[in-house]
Amino acid sequence: MASNDEQKVQTTGHTWDGDLAEYNNPLPQWWVWVFYGTVVFAVIYWILYPAWPVGDTYTQGVLEYNKRAKLDNTLQKVETGQLYPERQEALSQIAQKNPVAILDDPELMNFVNSSGKVLFGDNCAPCHGSGGQGVKGHYPNLTDGAWLYGGKPSDIHETLVKGRNGYMPGHENKLSEQQIEALAMYEGSLAGEDWAEGNPEKVARGEELFQGDEAACYACHGRDAKGNQTLGAPNLTDAIWLYGGDKATVIETLAKGRGGEMPAWEDRLSGDQIKILAAYVHSLGGGQ
Ligand code: HEC
Ligand code: HEC
Repeated sequence: MASNDEQKVQTTGHTWDGDLAEYNNPLPQWWVWVFYGTVVFAVIYWILYPAWPVGDTYTQGVLEYNKRAKLDNTLQKVETGQLYPERQEALSQIAQKNPVAILDDPELMNFVNSSGKVLFGDNCAPCHGSGGQGVKGHYPNLTDGAWLYGGKPSDIHETLVKGRNGYMPGHENKLSEQQIEALAMYEGSLAGEDWAEGNPEKVARGEELFQGDEAACYACHGRDAKGNQTLGAPNLTDAIWLYGGDKATVIETLAKGRGGEMPAWEDRLSGDQIKILAAYVHSLGGGQ
């Protein structure tokens, strides 16, 4: 049986060692065609789509090349004002106006709201949150009307151009724990926090320290504790806390100090982009 079967199969005709032959099994037709098909597919694919690395670029493929050419063409039309001439017009007006004048122009503000949103999302949202609401303990809320450095369009513009770096010195080496606690009680009572109620002696002791020359808090925060915008010293009477208003956090602020850093943007964004952002931030709700 076995020898009959073997005889049906072709051999290549070579024999070794007298009777050692080699089968000749052709590949099935369907397999061969699928194979040719993949070769043809590959060649067509290389022509149509990005495929081969060439130096530091790559073969772009006819389809992608056309798409890219179309996109470049469209972008160029937008840049030169052939498409959306209103964008070009808005940009040239922004170049001529200061942030106050931009805010006064409702049509320009439409443009500012859309392009400002994109700029804010790309550059500012990682710290200040996508709506500018900030992150408690780290990054100030830009929508609440409480400003470290002022909420006028020119103040915000200045903040963006130069950056800001608030410096609140730590007092743990200068004052005792009791003195720091008394000061915290005074801050808490100014802001109307529950935890500062019912201890008028400590609050009075804290006020004395605040106004005295040993702690000299008044030098930066003002006699009325309402802050000083040229130093970025916050208003301590408004119950809006940059770093948190629970007792432990206030004590930490007083003991260790704080130093928030707002980066400068003059080297990273164009003058027009900064103006757009200043008007945009002003219009988030807190502007003055
Ligand atoms: C790396 C984080 C970071 C980024 C990014 C950032 N900021 Fe700030 N920003 C801060 C910090 C921190 C402060 C507070 C500085 C301080 O405490 O002195 C601040 C303060 C501000 C203030 C002042 C708020 C006040 O109360 O006076 C404005 C306005 C502001 N940022 C807007 C922006 C805009 C617009 C962008 C995007 C172009 C931006 N920031 C990007 C961290 C950041
Ligand atoms: C050299 C100026 C300076 C002095 C002196 C100073 N502060 Fe400050 N203080 C600041 C600044 C600036 C900030 C904001 C820090 C920042 O932006 O990161 C601040 C922040 C604070 C905060 C945090 C407020 C919040 O919203 O979280 C408290 C509380 C505070 N100061 C209380 C005091 C007390 C009490 C004293 C006296 C022991 C004092 N400061 C002395 C400049 C000062």
